[in-house]
Amino acid sequence: MEPLRTTDPSLINFREKFELRGKVILISGACGLIGRAFCEAAAQFGAHVVLADVKEAAPVNAAASLEEKHGTKMLGVPVDAGSRTDVNRLLQETLQAFGKVDGLVTAHQNKSHLKFEPFESVSDENWDTVVHINLKGTFLLCQVIGTHMANHGGGSIINLPSTYSVVAPNQHLYSGTSLGCPAAYSASKGGIDALSRYLASYWASKRVRVNMITPHGVWNNHEAQFEQNFARFSPMARLSYNHEVAGAMVYLLSDASSYVTGDNMLVEGGWTVW
Ligand SMILES: NC(=O)c1ccc[n+]([C@@H]2O[C@H](COP(=O)([O-])OP(=O)(O)OC[C@H]3O[C@@H](n4cnc5c(N)ncnc54)[C@H](O)[C@@H]3O)[C@@H](O)[C@H]2O)c1
Repeated sequence: MEPLRTTDPSLINFREKFELRGKVILISGACGLIGRAFCEAAAQFGAHVVLADVKEAAPVNAAASLEEKHGTKMLGVPVDAGSRTDVNRLLQETLQAFGKVDGLVTAHQNKSHLKFEPFESVSDENWDTVVHINLKGTFLLCQVIGTHMANHGGGSIINLPSTYSVVAPNQHLYSGTSLGCPAAYSASKGGIDALSRYLASYWASKRVRVNMITPHGVWNNHEAQFEQNFARFSPMARLSYNHEVAGAMVYLLSDASSYVTGDNMLVEGGWTVW
């Protein structure tokens, strides 16, 4: 929708701008820690949510629960984000159910970054898996879903890189824990950052806005030592919660951010500020 050509803010309903009512929002990794918060927040703002996740995560069941709670039609689709066939099917099922798609949020990830694997011994197979799911999966979703939006009046895409594509991991963070962050994760996330900026420019004229949200240290019953270490290095001295990431998603999907594209919204408690 064209923004109102006015200098009179009293003509604007700012609250309305944050609404997602009637919008169809597709979220990959929908059943994950952050994906679940994204789905709930989008549903609370009135969206029809398409929950895309691998079959084992049971996206169909999650969609049924969300639909029952909010009384709004939802859709769950088992999808491997790294498969072009699956991503094409995801678009077809979304269009069959709703006839359109207004927003795409890519919040899937390969989990292997949670296990500590020294750089010196990373296998080709592990490198390829992380890069394939994280980066190629984001590419496929952007290409298939984004192209549809570009050809049908526009939309909003949000990709999720990482603090570790903005800065390097502080290795002291993992001291005394079993955790770590492998290079493949950082590299795949750096690719997502570059891809997002590229597409923000490429599709600006098609009214597809492309932005990023960078979460950091989202609490998920971490080891106590990790939580203590994290507090030492964080300006806010604590981990974040998945629901604290979701406000940025609502803003970037909604008309409230109609002049924002190519941005990386850091929801990282000031981690990179010092
Ligand atoms: N949690 C954090 O602290 C944090 C920090 C920075 C960035 N991120 C990024 O935010 C996003 C969400 O993170 P999270 O903590 O919710 O992760 P998560 O591991 O809890 O959830 C990821 C979801 O992706 C799904 N998934 C895995 N492989 C898939 C595939 N091939 N196709 C489709 N879905 C697949 C999983 O089933 C899972 O539901 C990720 O991109 C992650 O890199 C998270």
